[in-house]
Amino acid sequence: NDMLQWQRTGFHFQPKRNWMNDPNAPVFYKGWYHLFYQYNRGGAIWGNITWGHAASRDLIHWLHLPLAMLPDQWYDSNGVWTGSATVLPNGNLIILYTGSTNTTSQVQNLAVPADPSDPLLINWKKHDANPVLLPPPSVLPHDFRDPTTAWSDPSDPSSFLLAIGSKLDDRHSGVAYVYATEDFLSFRLLPGVLRAVEGTGMWECVDFFPVSVGGQIGLDTSEKAGERVKHVLKASLDDDRHDYYGIGTYYAEENKWVPDDAEMDVGIGLRYDWGKFYAAKTFFDRQKRRRVLWGWVGETDSERADVSKGWASLMSIPRTILLDSKTGSNLLTWPVEEVNFLRTRSYQFSSVSISPGSIVPLNIPATAQIDIEAEFQVEHAAVESTLEADVGYNCSTSGGAAGRGMLGPFGLLVLADKELREQTATYFYVSRAADYVLQTHFCQDESRSSGASDIVKRVVGHTVPVLNGEMLSVRILVDHSIVESFAQGGRSAITSRVYPTKAFNSAKVFLFNNATSASVKARSIRIWEMDTSFSHNLEANIQRL
Ligand code: FRU
Repeated sequence: NDMLQWQRTGFHFQPKRNWMNDPNAPVFYKGWYHLFYQYNRGGAIWGNITWGHAASRDLIHWLHLPLAMLPDQWYDSNGVWTGSATVLPNGNLIILYTGSTNTTSQVQNLAVPADPSDPLLINWKKHDANPVLLPPPSVLPHDFRDPTTAWSDPSDPSSFLLAIGSKLDDRHSGVAYVYATEDFLSFRLLPGVLRAVEGTGMWECVDFFPVSVGGQIGLDTSEKAGERVKHVLKASLDDDRHDYYGIGTYYAEENKWVPDDAEMDVGIGLRYDWGKFYAAKTFFDRQKRRRVLWGWVGETDSERADVSKGWASLMSIPRTILLDSKTGSNLLTWPVEEVNFLRTRSYQFSSVSISPGSIVPLNIPATAQIDIEAEFQVEHAAVESTLEADVGYNCSTSGGAAGRGMLGPFGLLVLADKELREQTATYFYVSRAADYVLQTHFCQDESRSSGASDIVKRVVGHTVPVLNGEMLSVRILVDHSIVESFAQGGRSAITSRVYPTKAFNSAKVFLFNNATSASVKARSIRIWEMDTSFSHNLEANIQRL
């Protein structure tokens, strides 16, 4: 029971109890960050979906608020499903969301704040004209959901555009449709599709937003495409439960988005996160001029375990999202700066050599809420010989952290007990691609993360771009049952849920190097304990704001 209680996190968002899934309508409004989410008030499994609601000043500490919307109308009686917020040019806020109707059709509905002057947005009003948008005749009524935030129509200032995900049946293509509207009451389907990709199946939770080329700031969703502005299209693939994105050019007049690289199209290439992370949504934070990403991190234990602990799911740490100005071909996602304010006592290690086949304990107090930043370097000679040999490494199928290769795996073990019976490994593995180019893999191995048997444990990850002269760098956030890792400043991210049965009351950190002959140097390691005493249950602490 202690163990189940321990699994709750300290600086991640989670409701007090019961089931949660997608983040909905994140928005900054009158000084407060709002987060709505798919919520079952009846238990720790999916069903009877309502909108949970919380507000925060800093994206970390939350005030839990009353449910924002209930399934109380014929057009959403099977669930108030996922939706998005749009802040109109006059400052008014609207929400469009999917209702699963009394006959389980998917229709789109409009909701507005009952009192727009209330910064906490406690009460919501569903519009009398609902449902405001029905599936077009060509679309199956079960494949039409999750409207995006709207952006201004570049060719008509009085009109807004928004996207909705669906599926085309002929080639099992995922697709994003675009609608134009002036009043969010009547909508016109634009000819063509924003994008369709064969074989990717139903696109859930589509997101579409501009990113600045070479810039360090986020952009408002209505920012127009141009030389310095690209667009990101993201879809959550119902078939394989991952969030995929592409970077490309938006041709508004043609209602078309084209990826820069056809091989990196939506659903076949880049992912926000290679671990447990789904149904993500971004919003533009006008206060700090940044775009922030929220993702749903589900459980990987059994439904039975969730029911007995009485809750299921977390939100990822909110992540700032930027186009990588160095590669131009991937996004950078990184924990928002507010996370750093939780850092308290820190421990530093530098130039630690990790010889082949060794494990080095880091002498810090046992704690399960930490933030780690580490940089690694491998011997030059070793890199040369790898170039001639080790080909075809794959995080998921090459033996994980216990495998032995020429240049890896090496990295960190977190949430480990002192005998290392339980451990979660975050590691690099350097190999070469078929064309003799060096390739760095960034992986997370869950296979020894828990002694419990009812848990899905995998090795996940992918290659990550490493530019000339860069060290291999990683940041890891550990918060009880979640390990969120970021490589190379956020070019790649991996989130794992872990359920230690032994390590939970004595969580230790180790360095390891399982390479057969290459020595690895940890150039610097910094570990911070995280202050979670200011609980995310703000009611008790509201005066401290
Ligand atoms: C994604 C999703 C959405 C839907 C919602 C229902 O996880 O299936 O497509 O709107 O969850 O809870």
